[in-house]
Amino acid sequence: MAIKCVGILTSGGDAPGMNAAIRAVTRSAIFNGLKVKGIYRGYKGLVANEIVPFKTQNVSNIIQQGGTILKTARSMEFKTKEGRKIAYENMTAAGIDALVVIGGDGSLTGARIFAEEYNVPIIGLPGTIDNDLFGTDRTIGYDTALNTIMEAVDKIRDTATSHERLFFIEVMGRDAGFLALNGAIAVGAEDAIIPEMATEVDQLAELIENGFRKSKNSSIVLVAESETTGGAMGLAERVKNEYPQYDVRVTILGHIQRGGSPTATDRILASRLGNAAIEALLEDQRNVMVGIENDKIVYVPFARAIKNDKPIDRELLNVLRVLSI
Ligand code: F6P
Repeated sequence: MAIKCVGILTSGGDAPGMNAAIRAVTRSAIFNGLKVKGIYRGYKGLVANEIVPFKTQNVSNIIQQGGTILKTARSMEFKTKEGRKIAYENMTAAGIDALVVIGGDGSLTGARIFAEEYNVPIIGLPGTIDNDLFGTDRTIGYDTALNTIMEAVDKIRDTATSHERLFFIEVMGRDAGFLALNGAIAVGAEDAIIPEMATEVDQLAELIENGFRKSKNSSIVLVAESETTGGAMGLAERVKNEYPQYDVRVTILGHIQRGGSPTATDRILASRLGNAAIEALLEDQRNVMVGIENDKIVYVPFARAIKNDKPIDRELLNVLRVLSI
């Protein structure tokens, strides 16, 4: 059956560039003769029937805005069979016959279950600052978050140098170290402590032995939030106990990393992926995430995007190590 009306929602943690993606999906759908409905508050709004017709004007003047005009939520109801049944009934009552879901790991997991249960065509767009979806080189929001981290850490470096202190700066990423590792390269940090390496070495001991002692009186270390790394607070505690000679401070960057106007890179990425999502639906593709690899659009089955852990590039670890002597 040909698709006539596409529903669009954003779910999970917001990410800069989600609005650019909403705009691209809406405009591309209308350009191709489809109707569009905006679903507010993610899956929660699908269950609560918060569905509104979208015209091209609904997405005017939003490409430069952070956050998501559709709002977002993490829905408990949609995790239940009953919740998904209501969601399906609301969707069909609104005349929606396909969905575009913009979000991270959890959102695409929800999409996969829903698509299997109700045979609904769904296309996913990787929208998360964490960059932790397999099958895409970058996710929407990641570049902006990296730039926000860079600006914040550049400021912290001034005081770290003046006081000759060791700073642990905690960045987001859930269980992934992409923001910490690439952020560390971008700010010229002494090290990045990331969950991907936690099982291999004692990263703190390595830092103190190899790096901090060598030639520097101050140090900036980016720490990925995660129980496996201990987070910035956990590491600072260890320094106080095991290496009391160092004057250590902690900054947790927190939700500042999720806000702000998206960078050109994120706007372009979101625009390309949003357009490709509609092209995918028109080509009868379903249950795939649209990603980007080597600057080309790729379609990745949900199962692959969600289940596989995206590996850290060891070359980046090497660059950081070599350049921080
Ligand atoms: O997935 C995006 C993210 O910002 C993670 O980096 C972080 O762990 C989490 O969301 C925080 O979620 P919340 O805003 O619900 O506290």
